[in-house]
Amino acid sequence: MNEKHVPVLLNEVLKSFADLPSRENLVYFDGTYGRGGHFREIVKKYNPSLALLTDQDTSAIAQAKLDWAKEISENKVKIFHQNFSEFAENNQQKLDMVLLDLGVSSPQLDQAERGFSFNKDGPLDMRMNQNAKLTAAEIINEFSAEDLIEIFKSYGEIFTSARVVRAVVNDRVTKPFETTLQLAQLIERVDGWQKKGFHPATQYFMALRLVVNRELQVIETAIPLLIDQLQDGGRLSVITFHSLEDRLTKNLFKDSELGFLVNKKVIVPTDEECKINPRARSAKLRIFQKGKTPEKPDKFAARRALRTKD
Ligand SMILES: C[S@@+](CC[C@H](N)C(=O)[O-])C[C@H]1O[C@@H](n2cnc3c(N)ncnc32)[C@H](O)[C@@H]1O
Repeated sequence: MNEKHVPVLLNEVLKSFADLPSRENLVYFDGTYGRGGHFREIVKKYNPSLALLTDQDTSAIAQAKLDWAKEISENKVKIFHQNFSEFAENNQQKLDMVLLDLGVSSPQLDQAERGFSFNKDGPLDMRMNQNAKLTAAEIINEFSAEDLIEIFKSYGEIFTSARVVRAVVNDRVTKPFETTLQLAQLIERVDGWQKKGFHPATQYFMALRLVVNRELQVIETAIPLLIDQLQDGGRLSVITFHSLEDRLTKNLFKDSELGFLVNKKVIVPTDEECKINPRARSAKLRIFQKGKTPEKPDKFAARRALRTKD
């Protein structure tokens, strides 16, 4: 089984922390540890004196504890099986560098039994946190038709889900939905392929995943708190894979009075990275810095000064 996760936008993330005010004891928070792809490189480049790591997935945390046993015993690394929003709600530590690399990891996507993938047969699960209660099966089998249509509209941006939902509600009476393929095949049968290379179940699965894991609500709670906890000049870098997440992140950054968006234009992977790692394709990086916006150099100041002399 492939347990690897190739970190997305790695150089861009490393660069996002390059202009921090120099401080002796850098504190790094990684809210989405995954398999530690970004963290390992952060350690090499910035050697934080304290790293706080969370992931809501028990297998990610088990692996992290094995990988960093020595640093944990030296109190250089602390690992929490937590949602990063819970961490943010309780954290008292000032942070210099924060990374949220949202969404799912390759091990989660690749393991059929996690139920994230519409082309691998597994239970209709989709929980990032294996201890959480709500599964995708529960939503599909128990939510009303109106609620399902609303979920697919708000979270999947599907405005024509009525036929799929009708078929789901019809079928579930005789046989509840238990597997990913059962649902994916129904969607394929009802909606058909509209775009080449784009499975008709893609947006439906994305919507269910966002609801199962409350992904948008978590971002909305955590980002303002994490901004608050940044040191002056500290940075929060967020990688999103979904337009709703990206829009929300951008707006939270823009609306904050405590700092500013470092790059006006969103940072996306190069064509080369997408070729090597197709999962990077939809990634977007936004960087927030705490503190006052640096003043733009005044190009005309020298000329004005000369004029006042005359
Ligand atoms: C895209 S992967 C991160 C990969 C990581 N940066 C790396 O290079 O290995 C996302 C990881 O974040 C976790 N995750 C997503 N949302 C989370 C949340 N709200 N709280 C904690 N962990 C979360 C997932 O369980 C998954 O392991």
